[in-house]
Amino acid sequence: MSVLFSPIQLRGLALKNRIMVAPMCQYSAVNGEANDWHFTHINNLALSGAAMFCIEATAVEAIGRITPGCLGLWNDACEAALKPIIASVRKHSKAAIAMQLAHAGRKASSHTPWDGGQLIPPADGGWQAEGPSAVPHKDGEAPPLAFDTAGLARVRDAFVAAAKRAARLDLDALEVHCAHGYLLHQFLSPIANRRTDQYGGSLQNRMRFPLEVFEAVRAAFPADRPVGLRVSATDWVEGGWDLPQTIEYVRELQALKVDWIDVSSGGVSPLQKIALGPGYQVPFAQAVRDATGVTTMAVGLITEPKQAEDIVASGKADMVALARGMLYDPRWGWHAAAELGGQVDVPPQYWRSQPSTQKALFGTTTFGTR
Ligand SMILES: Cc1cc2nc3c(=O)[nH]c(=O)nc-3n(C[C@H](O)[C@H](O)[C@H](O)COP(=O)(O)O)c2cc1C
Repeated sequence: MSVLFSPIQLRGLALKNRIMVAPMCQYSAVNGEANDWHFTHINNLALSGAAMFCIEATAVEAIGRITPGCLGLWNDACEAALKPIIASVRKHSKAAIAMQLAHAGRKASSHTPWDGGQLIPPADGGWQAEGPSAVPHKDGEAPPLAFDTAGLARVRDAFVAAAKRAARLDLDALEVHCAHGYLLHQFLSPIANRRTDQYGGSLQNRMRFPLEVFEAVRAAFPADRPVGLRVSATDWVEGGWDLPQTIEYVRELQALKVDWIDVSSGGVSPLQKIALGPGYQVPFAQAVRDATGVTTMAVGLITEPKQAEDIVASGKADMVALARGMLYDPRWGWHAAAELGGQVDVPPQYWRSQPSTQKALFGTTTFGTR
């Protein structure tokens, strides 16, 4: 029996397997609004065989977009643009749909990766970014404006408003983006957070704003639907955010009833020295799970079905999230199920593709002609 293809319960959400399509920015929205690209991309990967698809980092306010093309959910137009896409997924897929709520903080106003990914100054069509402190991401860049109290309240309210819109869109789950050097991670990390008020300095103070945001999002989303959080477990920089602090943070999130921790790393500093390799972040997920017992997702260079199976079967994590592997093989879940003896939900239009050696792969299927 495959553990990867065994069910898991996240609050009121029952998932048939332990695979999530990780959030992946598409940099293809206009004014934060989804379009035909998102329709194709989301509907395609909602049929990957993963039990849950997580919509890309979705900005809760316009200045919180990483790039001008980032998806948003800050107004009625953004909400309306997502509606037909979600309706289509519901019609053709049984995958749960999550959304990652995000704010880029000081990493906002960047070019898309295929245009180099660097800061766009306001004079070139960018905008003034805001962050915990007036410290730029890279030496020599224009610094962000530091949030004042009113600014923090505005951002918290924007997360809440987006969570309510997500609930109205009938999304199954939310993931709060607190990783990869974006706003909430910036508050955690002493590299980006140099504040001297109650939101900076001690670990307790640096965790305060991300915890306030998580608590507010949790309260704004229906009580039976799960809210998880993605964290960077380390900055990979001496003196930065690290695993012991992550564990303390996760304990606080547990008190606020977080439903999963998606354990990633890095992103806050260009000085990071990442030890890359297959499953390189899995030990962080395992450490978080061992120390706290929280439901964890492992992510990062998980590409092989047997590798994913081993991660969940050996208790290193409860779930896996895949990003690039899913883009490369958008039926990754089907192929993994075939290899591991699992079963996937497949729409009837595709039933005839079931390999003759895999009679149980798609469950009970019928096909008749005359
Ligand atoms: C095209 C692309 C877009 C991404 N966008 C996001 C994002 O919106 N939010 C996020 O937390 N991570 C994002 N990531 C990181 C992935 O979710 C994942 O953590 C990372 O790629 C490592 O997993 P992998 O080796 O399976 O690709 C992105 C990665 C890729 C390749």
